Amino acid sequence: MTKIPLKKSTMIYPLPAVMVSCGFTTEEYNIITVAWTGTVCSNPPMCYISVRKERHSHEIIKRTGEFVINLTNKNLAFATDWCGVRSGKKFDKFKEMKLTPEKGQIVKCPLIKESPLNIECVVKQVQELGSHDMFIADVVAVNAEETHFDKETGEFQLANAEMITYMHGKYYSLGKKIGKFGFSVEGTGKKSRNK
Ligand SMILES: Cc1cc2nc3c(=O)[nH]c(=O)nc-3n(C[C@H](O)[C@H](O)[C@H](O)COP(=O)(O)O)c2cc1C
Repeated sequence: MTKIPLKKSTMIYPLPAVMVSCGFTTEEYNIITVAWTGTVCSNPPMCYISVRKERHSHEIIKRTGEFVINLTNKNLAFATDWCGVRSGKKFDKFKEMKLTPEKGQIVKCPLIKESPLNIECVVKQVQELGSHDMFIADVVAVNAEETHFDKETGEFQLANAEMITYMHGKYYSLGKKIGKFGFSVEGTGKKSRNK
């Protein structure tokens, strides 16, 4: 294999493109699409979003200290993109995209009802990095769409939820399952589930 040097940049792909909802009052409810997101700790469960200071959502999240990460699927692809190219300074994104704000278990900001999984987050630390501020947060509640529970096993599974992913400026649906956690060492007794 021959490698061609590229200009240094953030090239960790594929990534999720999540819809982050925020705001404490219906007037200020907003949605920002975020690809700079991820898990940072299993126990306690913690995650992050990185948001540019100039985003309308930045001020809301910094002030309220809460946000919800709403995972996205094929049905939400259009809204995911739209909420990532239009600002809440000018638009009511819930209204424009016909999305439904729903009450969370713990946080005061809304979940997006149409999302298959909503992760309620409380900001623990704001790390200023440069272009983006990283909001490191505790996961305080998780809400999963009931149609994605296996009727026989009762297990929550997203395999049929048509989740989408974001790669270098484009959205994709997922391909076929090609393995499962630990399949590479199956039968050797050396599998560990801790991540
Ligand atoms: C796929 C995608 C991913 C994005 N990821 C981020 C991100 O990680 N951080 C960020 O600050 N903006 C990101 N944006 C841009 C914001 O979503 C966009 O500027 C949005 O209009 C901000 O909305 P607001 O002004 O209502 O907060 C992304 C946009 C798209 C389409």
